[in-house]
Amino acid sequence: SSSINVAVIPGDGIGPEVITEAVKVLRAATAAADAELTLTDYKLGAEHWLTTGETLSEEVLDRLRSHDAILFGAVGAAPGDTRIPSGLIEREMLLKLRFSLDHYVNLRPSRLYPGVPSPLADPGEIDFVVVREGTEGPYVGNGGALRTGTPHEIATEVSVNTAHGVERVVRDAFRRASERPRKHLTLVHKHNVLVHAGHLWKRTVEAVAGEFPQVTHDYLHVDAAMIFLVTDPSRFDVIVTDNLFGDIITDLAAAVTGGIGLAASGNINMDRTAPSMFEPVHGSAPDIAGQQKADPTAAILSAALLLRHLGFSEQAERIEGAVENDVATRSGAPRTTAEIGDAIAAAVS
Ligand code: NAD
Ligand code: IPM
Ligand code: MN
Repeated sequence: SSSINVAVIPGDGIGPEVITEAVKVLRAATAAADAELTLTDYKLGAEHWLTTGETLSEEVLDRLRSHDAILFGAVGAAPGDTRIPSGLIEREMLLKLRFSLDHYVNLRPSRLYPGVPSPLADPGEIDFVVVREGTEGPYVGNGGALRTGTPHEIATEVSVNTAHGVERVVRDAFRRASERPRKHLTLVHKHNVLVHAGHLWKRTVEAVAGEFPQVTHDYLHVDAAMIFLVTDPSRFDVIVTDNLFGDIITDLAAAVTGGIGLAASGNINMDRTAPSMFEPVHGSAPDIAGQQKADPTAAILSAALLLRHLGFSEQAERIEGAVENDVATRSGAPRTTAEIGDAIAAAVS
């Protein structure tokens, strides 16, 4: 039998609540596959920083590297929490992990499961995947401020896009498109305004397209893409885009496919030089934390992506099937976080 060694970072807010359920399901799925699962908890996040002053040390980062994969909940303080500098944990822990472990494919599937209500009146079939670049763009922290606090302040955030970084994620998106029935890729950017980066992305798509003659491709400016995401989401198959556009697009994509509580993601190092990390798209949701109100489905589906990445496709499909059945029958009294987790775990056992 095989073994899987997973690092678990529950984090803050609803992170620990939804990860408890994802772990239940992971245990059930691996037990059914007769795989040996080893879990190691890492206490990182806002609370950890408050007590230790540590975001993510090199030593902890090194230990994380020794695992096959990382399961991550969410981090971040409540908006009103003045004890923590805004975004500190997000940048120095979460983004540091994505950058250090070279998670260049931020995979965010969006599917409207049968029976799940969408806020769209006539959603049609929605089944696409956003391949969001994960290591570059405006996220790299390349910016600064001059004359801070004066009427003459100038603040910049410079988006970094490298040929290497764009090419590898575009090639991955084409490959994913080539393996899907509709074999279609849409580049989403804003090259009418963001000329330099936009043209690098456009040229790269055109060049890599030659390697995938079976894949059709088109281009949309990000603003128009948001119209179609609401009026005609069925047109999308694979979307490839930069780090910031991808962040924004995937919250809207989650909303039109039944809510942020269902949206899973993988931060994937396709070269396997470091462990990949799987996490719900949502954040720490301080407004509902500690109340057993959070939907653990996004975290559970992220565990399925983790298993697929490690070669356990059958178990991944088992979890996705159990979720599909579970979400189809959600009506009546809302269930607690644990009740949803228990039901899905029982279905995969
Ligand atoms: P959020 O995703 O935490 O919450 C947005 C809204 O969605 C809230 O109303 C919340 O209650 C709801 N929601 C989120 N997850 C849910 C779930 N599983 N079930 C039901 N409802 C859910 O976004 P935010 O409020 O902008 O951010 C809160 C904190 O989380 C901030 O500190 C932010 O920086 C951080 N954040 C972290 C991550 C991450 O760790 N990957 C992602 C996004 C935001
Ligand atoms: C996400 C989050 C993060 C991002 C934040 C918390 C840094 O919004 O995972 O979507 O912007 O990538
Ligand atoms: Mn986001």
